[in-house]
Amino acid sequence: PDRHPRLNLPRTIYGDRLNSFGPDLSIKAVRDTFGMAIDKVDGTSFVAAPLVGGEENTSAAFEVVTAPANRLIKVGVVHEATKADIANAFDLAKSAQPHWNKLGGAKRAEVLNKMGDALEADLNRLCALIVREAGKTWADAIAEVREAVDFCRYYARLAIEQFGQPKMLTGPVGERNSHELHGRGVFVCISPWNFPLAIFTGQIAAALAAGNAVLAKPAEQTPLIAAEAVKLFHKAGLNAALLALLPGRGETVGAQLTALPHIAGVAFTGGTETAWMINKTLANKRGPIVPFIAETGGLNGLFVDTTALKEQVIDDVILSAFGSSGQRCSALRLLFLPHDVADAYIEGLKGAMDMLLIGDPSNPVNDTGPVIDKDARDILEAHLSRCEAKGQVLHRTPTPSGLNGDYFAPTLVELSSADELEREVFGPVLHVVRYDSQNYQPTTDALAGRGYGLTLGVHSRIEAFAEDIAEAVPAGNVYINRSIIGAVVGVQPFGGEGLSGTGPKAGGPFSLIRFASERAVSNNI
Ligand code: SER
Repeated sequence: PDRHPRLNLPRTIYGDRLNSFGPDLSIKAVRDTFGMAIDKVDGTSFVAAPLVGGEENTSAAFEVVTAPANRLIKVGVVHEATKADIANAFDLAKSAQPHWNKLGGAKRAEVLNKMGDALEADLNRLCALIVREAGKTWADAIAEVREAVDFCRYYARLAIEQFGQPKMLTGPVGERNSHELHGRGVFVCISPWNFPLAIFTGQIAAALAAGNAVLAKPAEQTPLIAAEAVKLFHKAGLNAALLALLPGRGETVGAQLTALPHIAGVAFTGGTETAWMINKTLANKRGPIVPFIAETGGLNGLFVDTTALKEQVIDDVILSAFGSSGQRCSALRLLFLPHDVADAYIEGLKGAMDMLLIGDPSNPVNDTGPVIDKDARDILEAHLSRCEAKGQVLHRTPTPSGLNGDYFAPTLVELSSADELEREVFGPVLHVVRYDSQNYQPTTDALAGRGYGLTLGVHSRIEAFAEDIAEAVPAGNVYINRSIIGAVVGVQPFGGEGLSGTGPKAGGPFSLIRFASERAVSNNI
């Protein structure tokens, strides 16, 4: 079949390779192997410790990592990186990078392709660890591993295409002109907890593909899956000096890494506030001026008009707003419904919300799991209280009692305009706004005026309407008549503009360019 039966993601051909093709959860035997993988992960105590030159440093104090779905379950321990770990990691990476850079794109691609194969071979164990450590559902965990595999293979391909022989350029007779890309040095990669394997691996794979060494800091909530990924990179044949794992908090390890005077650049995915802080740290250094690649949040909207297909809209909205517990930067935050049909849509959404099953994601019947931690839940609860005080809450999915984790029920809120939503609310809260689809400009202006530009959806059978909305609202990823989440590597290159990030997009043809330096050679032979 051309489409995956369950996850419904299109297969794409890059020459001889396809996007990774995860297992089908509708098959009982597949679900059974997952159950066994969960048991095995529950019987293992994972460790994330600074990993420098392949040596683990477990001497610093540790903290216990528990499962967001059930805080009684211990998943492992994490040791924070020290200043000495960071300094050693930088020195090692700095000395190993020139050789890696000289190897050329094709040799580097071999290692990345081996990493893709290693991830795929370890899919069950990695998924089970993601389910436990990040509270993701099985379907989300599978999609996550597949995306990590895709990043490795896609960037391997770009390394071959863009970091091979110098490109010859035209010039005067007797002069040979060429242009080439090469690595910049030691990159710092700082990744988020919401894609603790895919984005962690993707940033590293991009930096490595371009010929850099990497100091990687995973999110403090999800260091364990990151440690497994780094070990797999090393097993896949990467010189351990080229990739160090430096777990810890943003305020300590993140701040120290970005302040290192001679790093070659920073790749960051996370909140806009943190991106501003990193930008400031880089700007205050009196050293090389280096690239900052940031992918941050969004105030993502979806516009429905009166020609849209209601059932399809409801399915796509539920997935976009509440899938992954709303913890995707691409997730739907603001749904714009035409006045005439808004009530009917709201009733439909309430019904669909009641069908969602909330619970421990290690049980595959559950559609949504917990949010990442208590801090995230507190922020959502505070938002809910404010909305309740204003009488704006329309509906909540019933949540079973007796769960020991950080759960927050999918919630539907009505606002009178997009301006009422002060900031990105990172979780399963969907805000509905009624609007005039014949005179949408005040609404699109209000959304555009917020300065974000990540994802945008339109549901309409009138192509001109979809085009007009897409022109009026800035967005790096526009989705028409479908959900607005789940960008596939090489299929929907992902990333935004304005407050949503700098680009280049992840999983797109220009992904590696800002990780590289350019050189033009002019030889008057
Ligand atoms: N890339 C993810 C998506 O498209 C979001 O980070 O949903």
